Amino acid sequence: MTSKNTSKSTAENTSEKVAPLLQIVDLHVSVEDKEILKGVNLTINAGEIHAIMGRNGSGKSTLSYALMGHPRYKVTSGKMLYKGQEVGEMSPDQRAKLGMALAFQYPVAIPGVSVSNFLRKTVNAVRGRDIPVKEFRLELKALMAKLGVKDEFLSRYVNDGFSGGEKKRLEILQLSMLKPLLAILDETDSGLDIDALKTVSEGINVMAQADTAVLLITHYQRMLNYVQPQFVHVFQDGKIVASGGKELALELEDRGYEWVTQESVDESASAQAKANSSSAAATPVGAK
Ligand SMILES: Nc1ncnc2c1ncn2[C@@H]1O[C@H](COP(=O)(O)OP(=O)(O)O)[C@@H](O)[C@H]1O
Ligand SMILES: [Mg+2]
Repeated sequence: MTSKNTSKSTAENTSEKVAPLLQIVDLHVSVEDKEILKGVNLTINAGEIHAIMGRNGSGKSTLSYALMGHPRYKVTSGKMLYKGQEVGEMSPDQRAKLGMALAFQYPVAIPGVSVSNFLRKTVNAVRGRDIPVKEFRLELKALMAKLGVKDEFLSRYVNDGFSGGEKKRLEILQLSMLKPLLAILDETDSGLDIDALKTVSEGINVMAQADTAVLLITHYQRMLNYVQPQFVHVFQDGKIVASGGKELALELEDRGYEWVTQESVDESASAQAKANSSSAAATPVGAK
């Protein structure tokens, strides 16, 4: 039911081998000398939707910060390859320019900076050119209508006095404007009522249809009713302990996180047993 390394290359049928969009190999990350990530392996191809689920404190946000290059999160070993290129030494804005983007679990307020200014500055910075104001406005208004963001938002200060739902809508609006190749969404569903959840999910689906790969970090299964991942990974104590299809999320909802640990222990034990028996079978009878 659960299996490891289920990521399938969407470029399988092309003869030329294309590097995965994101390849995380045995990633270890420490915060203030405490190891939080303990060997994460994950491969994401262009346009795929992956969900990471896990208990609070299992290290999900740490993974998102490490991917974007938060200075407090130190990569002590392992690789983070984006289009085959190591990004571990790059600044967050270099990563953003390459097409990586993160929607924060806890977006911060920036009093004094209006939403409209903020969005235009970030979009210009990431796209590396100044978009004409008219063009920018048109694009922005269209997306705002889609995401149910009111006009008055534009003149308000970023996240200043915003409700939880408003903050998350703004995160998705920003991502939709940035059009990243890889969108990392950290608990974007938390604090959303059902209507906000639907519109935000719709925004994510629109991005995914435009070939943005999505890494959806979530504690609850409910968002996965609206954004359907092809791959679900269970995070525990700083690593992925099980991966599967979207049915894994439903199973987690039914059975909680506890059974996964047991299953992954059983699985590695049976893999070990299989490896032992196949090497035994390869040994000629009578050999010492
Ligand atoms: N900036 C930080 N300083 C100290 N400890 C941290 C910091 N960020 C995360 N941690 C610790 O790392 C562990 C994982 O946290 P986190 O990545 O936020 O988990 P999750 O997002 O799955 O809830 C927790 O034990 C948390 O206390
Ligand atoms: Mg978190």
